[in-house]
Amino acid sequence: MAGSLERVRDHFGRPLDAVRLSVLDRCNLRCSYCMPEESYVWLPREDLLRFEEITRLVDAFGLLGVGRVRITGGEPLLRRDLPALVRMLAGRPFLRDLALTTNGLLLADQASALLAAGLHRVTVSLDTLRPDVFRQLTGSAAHADVIAGIDAAVRAGFAALKLDAVVLRGRNDDELAALLAFARDRGAELRFIEYMDVGGATGWSAADVVSSQEILASLARAFGPIEPVAGDRGSSTAARFTLPDGTAFGVIASTTEPFCGSCDRARLTADGMFYMCLYARTGADLRRFVREGASTEVLAAAIATAWRGRTDRGAEDRLAVLDRGPLLPASALRRIPHLEMHKRGG
Ligand code: GTP
Ligand code: 5AD
Ligand code: SF4
Repeated sequence: MAGSLERVRDHFGRPLDAVRLSVLDRCNLRCSYCMPEESYVWLPREDLLRFEEITRLVDAFGLLGVGRVRITGGEPLLRRDLPALVRMLAGRPFLRDLALTTNGLLLADQASALLAAGLHRVTVSLDTLRPDVFRQLTGSAAHADVIAGIDAAVRAGFAALKLDAVVLRGRNDDELAALLAFARDRGAELRFIEYMDVGGATGWSAADVVSSQEILASLARAFGPIEPVAGDRGSSTAARFTLPDGTAFGVIASTTEPFCGSCDRARLTADGMFYMCLYARTGADLRRFVREGASTEVLAAAIATAWRGRTDRGAEDRLAVLDRGPLLPASALRRIPHLEMHKRGG
């Protein structure tokens, strides 16, 4: 089925190759960089796409040549019976990459079932090795569950396990070397993520961002000279590097060195809104099309039309903002919850 329609390109010639699929907006953590507010507006249950509806939409993306799907949230492991969705998606021959991003809290219980269902890759968020810092950053005392989740993913035998750490000044920036050593011990690839001013990050300030340059300098002090990995990074979010002992790691520098020029990612929210950028203010309601009985071809045509007009380069646009602060105030996010990072799949 893949690519049987002409390969669609956006206004800047960028292809559509990947979909980040949020399966639920709820989360069981409250990370200060993503969900710092007291309360949130949740999607009504009846608005959530059913698994059959999700796979219909993924088939439409497949018709346009999409070959990668990443399941996200909120926290995707809170979605009931997620392995059943994974099994349905894993059966799509056009998907060469099927990955999941999770906070790890529920992973110990589900790692084997997800692997058995056909999931290819897992990425776990891990910002700190210290339970007290974890509690401050997330409001949760369950740090040990995240570690257990990571260890379960290693034991289950997932290839290419990744760990994602958002670096925040004065909070976890003294742990970069320790996080990297932790990942290395488990054969996982760590990626350091710059703190982004996306929707949800209402407490964002430029002073709290630890830049890629600073991250690399700190790691070089701890481990010795760092080398960039040679070759084209394609559309990857991460620039990759190696330590002197060959350990590879990544830095996702969305804030200081954005990579919109190669962005081939679309986003689908749990209620079927289609966004073409993490920063986009507006999206298209694909659930309505699905529930009105549109064929896969009609859905694909609607997605293609939207993608052809895509001019988004949200993170690059933000670079031009003088006196940069949070993208949006909490009041705007309450009015338009779809602007939240946890709604549109991290
Ligand atoms: P791989 O396919 O393993 O490279 O994963 P990924 O980096 O695409 O996905 P992951 O969920 O691990 O994303 C890590 C972080 O990168 C996200 O939480 C965001 O902070 C950032 N990120 C992911 N996609 C985008 C994007 O399209 N734009 C920007 N600016 N940042 C993104
Ligand atoms: N900056 C950078 N990454 C973020 N995430 C959420 N909010 C932000 C932000 N403000 C991403 C991180 C985290 C995942 C849940 O979402 O990768 O691990
Ligand atoms: Fe893609 Fe938008 Fe992220 Fe830029 S900011 S990389 S265009 S999703």
